[in-house]
Amino acid sequence: MKAWYDKIDAVERVSDLEAIRIAVFGKKGVLAAEFAKMKDAPNEDKAAIAKELNIHKGRLTALLTQKKEMLQLHELEAAMKAEAIDVTLYSAPSQSGSLHPVMETMDRIVEYFSSMNFAVYTGPMIEDDFHNFEALNLPKYHPARDMQDTFYFKDEMLLRTHTSPVQIRTMLQSQPPIRMIAPGAVFRRDYDLTHTPMFHQVEGLLVDEAGSVSFANLKFILEDFLHYMFGDVAVRFRPSFFPFTEPSAEVDISCIFCEGEGCRVCSKTGWLEVLGCGIVDSNVFQAVNYNNVSGYAFGLGVERFAMLIHRIGDLRSLFEGDVRLLEQFR
Ligand code: DAH
Repeated sequence: MKAWYDKIDAVERVSDLEAIRIAVFGKKGVLAAEFAKMKDAPNEDKAAIAKELNIHKGRLTALLTQKKEMLQLHELEAAMKAEAIDVTLYSAPSQSGSLHPVMETMDRIVEYFSSMNFAVYTGPMIEDDFHNFEALNLPKYHPARDMQDTFYFKDEMLLRTHTSPVQIRTMLQSQPPIRMIAPGAVFRRDYDLTHTPMFHQVEGLLVDEAGSVSFANLKFILEDFLHYMFGDVAVRFRPSFFPFTEPSAEVDISCIFCEGEGCRVCSKTGWLEVLGCGIVDSNVFQAVNYNNVSGYAFGLGVERFAMLIHRIGDLRSLFEGDVRLLEQFR
């Protein structure tokens, strides 16, 4: 019997214990065989043999159970160790995206005007003639309506050429006072270093009681805005013309590349044009049935701002989706 104690001792896997259990305790096992042999033993020895065999039976059972529990514990420990996740381990490097410079610039512009209590409105990109042109005091013969510039659908529908129609939609929807901006994509038939058929604008409009909105108000907010975007630059207002404003102005900042010295980017003028603006033309208010109001409006191209801020020479590169370019703006 002694050999079986050693065998149980030597077992290393729970699965090997079962074979031993059968070999010892099974119907044809060693214990059964030993008990069977008792019938040949002298009668006076039988009690002692049975007693001894029962002691073995008890001890082997206990040993087997103990061994099984111990091996199960070891196997569990080994399994847990093997499956353990090291949470301190570095993961494989993953690529995180970033905002496109145009969107990032747009966000910054919206952020400024939001802080000045301008509400953000949007309008459809497919517009009609009335909202894109007519209501904005752009009569039928105006050059901006030229087939060269505008993508037309049939029935006087078109891709909006600016975000100004959102002014009209907002005024038709609500009553003054109004303080709004309209960021969004616009479309023109144009393609070169500084023009793409799709680009983005932010439009601004403020309307209040007649006599309460002045050009000084407009000048103040645009100067403050341009300092927010470009830092310490000089700002100048140049008389200009837009059909929807009177008087109108174009706004320049001192060239951020040469600081006003004159360079290639500013065409040796020392100034960069960044905005169009003016006092809302009375014809525009008439088109939306507003009476006794005054207001100012402005519009800017987001790509132009992004190009100046990030010093990008070719506008088209912003729309090629080349990650090597975009990665530089993380
Ligand atoms: N809509 C003009 C454009 O696309 C930009 C603009 C100029 C908007 C003056 C305005 C404004 O509201 O007052 O070029």
